[in-house]
Amino acid sequence: MSDMLVKLYNLPEVEPYARKLKEQGTVVRRAMAYEKHQIVQWVQMTFGAGWASESDIAFSNHPISCFIAVEAGKIMGFACYDCTCRDFFGPTGVVAKKRGRGIGRTLLLSSLHAMAANGYAYAIIGSVDSAEFYKKTAGAEEIQGSSPGIYRDGLKKPESN
Ligand SMILES: CC(C)(COP(=O)(O)OP(=O)(O)OC[C@H]1O[C@@H](n2cnc3c(N)ncnc32)[C@H](O)[C@@H]1OP(=O)(O)O)[C@@H](O)C(=O)NCCC(=O)NCCS
Repeated sequence: MSDMLVKLYNLPEVEPYARKLKEQGTVVRRAMAYEKHQIVQWVQMTFGAGWASESDIAFSNHPISCFIAVEAGKIMGFACYDCTCRDFFGPTGVVAKKRGRGIGRTLLLSSLHAMAANGYAYAIIGSVDSAEFYKKTAGAEEIQGSSPGIYRDGLKKPESN
């Protein structure tokens, strides 16, 4: 899986997508510090321990580099940036039953606009699983020769002694 590059100076607007979701009862907003335990636990339960570790880092950044999608007080999706590496977008995910409604796109564009406001010109999406999604929503392009990128020499699961 390769990394992808996004031009942050040429992003689609996020407001129309965010507004449409809000009308349907889903709010996309930046995570708050007091929600850290709930969000990291939710990421762990929904997407696994590796993504939970990465998203935990978002809460060491100021402002917190994590957006969430919330419906009636429940998390429906999340997106982080500046976690795995500086200038990296991800991890991100939407609960399976809510996919295809624009939540992933709104989380992605909210994060990318925040990265642009932070002064980055480009963003990197690490080890992409859904290249078509990033191409379509943010004009991302594959970075040639970027696999396996930073995800190498991974630790094995601990064995009992
Ligand atoms: C990838 C993911 C975040 C997309 O979230 P989503 O809420 O379903 O995406 P959206 O509804 O905002 O989709 C926006 C557009 O991208 C398209 N799209 C979404 N996922 C896609 C995929 N995996 N491949 C191709 N196109 C995709 C949608 O059809 C939609 O197109 P449209 O504008 O023509 O309607 C979600 O599928 C997910 O959580 N997947 C599992 C975790 C994951 O793979 N994370 C990314 C790791 S790199």
